[in-house]
Amino acid sequence: NLPGLPTLRNQAPIVIGHRGSSGTRPEHTLESYRVAIETGADFIEPDLVVTKDGVLIARHEPVIAAVDASGKVTEATTDVASHPEFASRLTTKKLDGVDVRGYFAEDFTLAELKTLRAVERLPALRGKAYDGQFEVPTLAEVIALVRDVEARTGRKVGIYPETKHPTYFAAQGLNTSQLLIDTLKKEGFTDPGRVFVQSFETANLRDLKTNIMPRAGVNLPLVQLVSSPDEAPYDWVARGDARKYDALTTDAALRDIATYASGVGPYKRWIIDDGGKTTNFVTRAHAAGLLVHPWTFRNEPPYLLPVYANDPEAEMRQALRAGVDGLFTDFPATGARVVGQY
Ligand code: G3P
Ligand code: CA
Repeated sequence: NLPGLPTLRNQAPIVIGHRGSSGTRPEHTLESYRVAIETGADFIEPDLVVTKDGVLIARHEPVIAAVDASGKVTEATTDVASHPEFASRLTTKKLDGVDVRGYFAEDFTLAELKTLRAVERLPALRGKAYDGQFEVPTLAEVIALVRDVEARTGRKVGIYPETKHPTYFAAQGLNTSQLLIDTLKKEGFTDPGRVFVQSFETANLRDLKTNIMPRAGVNLPLVQLVSSPDEAPYDWVARGDARKYDALTTDAALRDIATYASGVGPYKRWIIDDGGKTTNFVTRAHAAGLLVHPWTFRNEPPYLLPVYANDPEAEMRQALRAGVDGLFTDFPATGARVVGQY
């Protein structure tokens, strides 16, 4: 497929359904992933955390509801705060160096989590209209959905898992990347053409590349996420390294990333500047041999870059013209339409 775009391998850019079709359904539910697949996503993205009994589930954070001192829910991906039977699980933990008060996935068994219902986390997204209707899915259930689509339609959609907060879980004796590879192996879903594994933390990806995957006899493409320049990978913070994410975007750093990863997943502002102009990021990452999959493309303010306030498709087109090899979007229907124009 030669779409006439300067992608690394001259292939069509992939559309990654970010948390499914989370612009239209509550994020990280089977319904959100189903809609993503049906509206054109090539890959679906589960963010992963772990239950008390060691099962990977799709949630954006270990915190499944954050609660302030007055008892008000400040951010939630489940309705746990309205379940009186779980009131005693409310606690405060340090998450990546910050005190967070709330309910945490690793304090609940899978059976307990299955009694909860998902809610959309981001206030401006229309997924909120479906709050309270869907369960929290396991990674195995996400894979089963993908297999079901393949069996019914022949369409081979991939998955793009992100192990969330590996340093935080490691401090509790939980190796989420090991669990991920174990689960993918158990489910027989280890085709490197259908899985990308992503992480913000560098040590986690190096461990996957050097230890976890070779031991398991698995070799999946890894993607180094790159957040805003003023933030830092938490594994760096934890070991007292003062550098920020901009240290991952020099030519030398990109060449180093290429020793363990197949691609980078930058915040979209690395690709498009404030004036809507393309930066040299994609060209430099491609020169290092890295695929580029930026995030997150959405249809509505306040999530668009200001210069594209009323034109999400123009924002996507600008990224595609820059040569990105795929993009994460909460609206895969829009992503598929825009990619289809090339
Ligand atoms: O994984 C790409 C993007 O999803 C990273 O940010 O916070 O949405 O997981 P986040
Ligand atoms: Ca993610």
